[in-house]
Amino acid sequence: MAEDPVPTDSPVTSGNVSRRGFLKGAGLGAAGAAILETGLNAVTEASTALAGPAAVGPGRVAVTLNVNGSARKLDIEPRTTLAEALRDDLGLTGTKVVCDRGSCSACTVLLDKTLVVSCMTLAIDVGDRAVTTIEGLAKGDVLHPVQEAFIEHDAMQCGYCTPGMVMSCAALLDRNPSPSLDDVRDAVSGNLCRCGTYPKVFDATLAAARVSRR
Ligand code: FES
Ligand code: FES
Repeated sequence: MAEDPVPTDSPVTSGNVSRRGFLKGAGLGAAGAAILETGLNAVTEASTALAGPAAVGPGRVAVTLNVNGSARKLDIEPRTTLAEALRDDLGLTGTKVVCDRGSCSACTVLLDKTLVVSCMTLAIDVGDRAVTTIEGLAKGDVLHPVQEAFIEHDAMQCGYCTPGMVMSCAALLDRNPSPSLDDVRDAVSGNLCRCGTYPKVFDATLAAARVSRR
């Protein structure tokens, strides 16, 4: 018995049968076939979009982080958090990890001018944003005014929360050189201090603001 001719009127083919030919063979007119083909194309495009960007890993990944003004090359597992990369790979242990789940802000660092909790940030997601840690606040031997004020006002006890607290207060002064007490309270509202140093943190930050405005 003679076989049906293979349709060749569509660029969309699979094996020897075109999609349009199949739809026509199923009893649809040219208009219906065209509509269905358009729908199938839309589904294909949506599936491609849902697939998202190419995955990295599971092996180690080469990344370069811009940390405190220096390009630092790392070879890390994709699951490495920014806090782990800073502390374990780069030896920048000023950034503290306390809760390791995004609830205490001890691990706060800056990505460009945005505060982030580094225990909840994957190092491979940092990209070319500038990372500033507590080690990067001072200019050589000259401490940041907030660091000076924390020392002067004795605004720390065990010190675990202190680097994150200082980062939050320094970022506040950067965006608001004349903060009110409520502004300072708000700025450190996510920084948990189990030792209860808040009153001294408020005093220190307001004092640092006064010094910075001179
Ligand atoms: S250690 Fe990152 S939020 Fe607590
Ligand atoms: S100084 Fe101890 S947790 Fe804040």
